[in-house]
Amino acid sequence: MTYSVVQWATGAIGKTCLRGVLDRPELELVGLYVYGERKEGADAGTIARYPETGVRATRNINEILALDADVVIHTARLQVPYETHDADIVALLRSGKNVITTAGDHYPQAHGPERAALFEQAGLDGGATLYGVGMNPGFLLERLVLGLTGVCVELESVDVEEMLDASTMPDPDFVFNVMGMGSDPATLDLSAGPLTVLFGKLYAEAIRFFGDRTGTTFERIQADHRVLPATRDLAVSAGVIPAGTVAATEWRWHGIADGKRFVTLSVIWTMDPTMPEYEGRNHWTVHLEGKPVLDLTLDMADPTDSRFQTKAGQYITAGPVLNAIPDVVAAPPGIFTPPVFAPFRRQGALA
Ligand SMILES: NC(=O)c1ccc[n+]([C@@H]2O[C@H](COP(=O)([O-])OP(=O)(O)OC[C@H]3O[C@@H](n4cnc5c(N)ncnc54)[C@H](OP(=O)(O)O)[C@@H]3O)[C@@H](O)[C@H]2O)c1
Repeated sequence: MTYSVVQWATGAIGKTCLRGVLDRPELELVGLYVYGERKEGADAGTIARYPETGVRATRNINEILALDADVVIHTARLQVPYETHDADIVALLRSGKNVITTAGDHYPQAHGPERAALFEQAGLDGGATLYGVGMNPGFLLERLVLGLTGVCVELESVDVEEMLDASTMPDPDFVFNVMGMGSDPATLDLSAGPLTVLFGKLYAEAIRFFGDRTGTTFERIQADHRVLPATRDLAVSAGVIPAGTVAATEWRWHGIADGKRFVTLSVIWTMDPTMPEYEGRNHWTVHLEGKPVLDLTLDMADPTDSRFQTKAGQYITAGPVLNAIPDVVAAPPGIFTPPVFAPFRRQGALA
């Protein structure tokens, strides 16, 4: 079977997905949506640095809606507010196209019935399915760790940490203004603000999905963020981070059940991976406290045989998107729920 695909946005993840579509014989590119004015009208092959495809980029959503396509790979940049892309996604679903997005919507049910109903109804209207996926959120907690809980006879708590070396991020606006690196640690408040709300909503989806699959009702998801100062002047890709200013942001949420931390998800961005706190740490660390006690570490490395600058982190995000296409297309309309076979479930959860 061949699947007709629209690629929506061509940033780092979008281009990785686009090349994946062009590489896979069972996928046929039929449309391309871009945001950048300079990309409008360009051939998809030119954007991907591939041979010409005959598919030209458009910035007009109506042209995309009018296409006959099985699936839209939606890799737009996350925006504040979190709900910015809702209207586009709803329109795509209503037009009969399945949507696989990396820009959130991993588990809209996490935000209550109203948000879930928005996408469920749009899917039902168009006979289409929405799936939000990526590595974290999307795969790490929801599939890898959840699958791992299946070997536990008892499970007390789950600790999942992502450690990101942000020193090679090139965009000064993102690094200094959005992430707050280089600012005064006394004034950077991670407990409030647009980014805090955005991240809070995004990662709550992974935690709530994990809770629902393990039969856990969280009383609350508790934020526990902190910043760490640079121990020396840091020359990073985006500029200079003076000693004493913010060099790391630790985003951490605890899913609290029965008054205790059941799931902790940490996302750490550091401009200095050699800081004593971080030195030698793996990219992902998972600790399950229970019977048995389990520890898992996972790292990734950039491919050495590619003519593109695609990083491991981009492949690892695009992989779950491309690989999900047949399952999402075959799924009933609404919100896609990735199947999980026999995870650990709390006693009484099935009663
Ligand atoms: N869950 C995960 O594990 C995971 C991992 C990495 C990334 N992501 C998510 O995947 C998405 C893509 O990431 P990326 O690294 O490819 O980002 P990126 O390189 O910053 O590119 C995103 C693309 O978004 C488009 N864009 C420009 N202005 C926009 C606007 N106002 N609104 C929406 N989109 C706009 C642009 O498309 P054109 O260039 O085509 O004009 C841009 O290239 C993001 O939402 C990111 O958060 C998820």
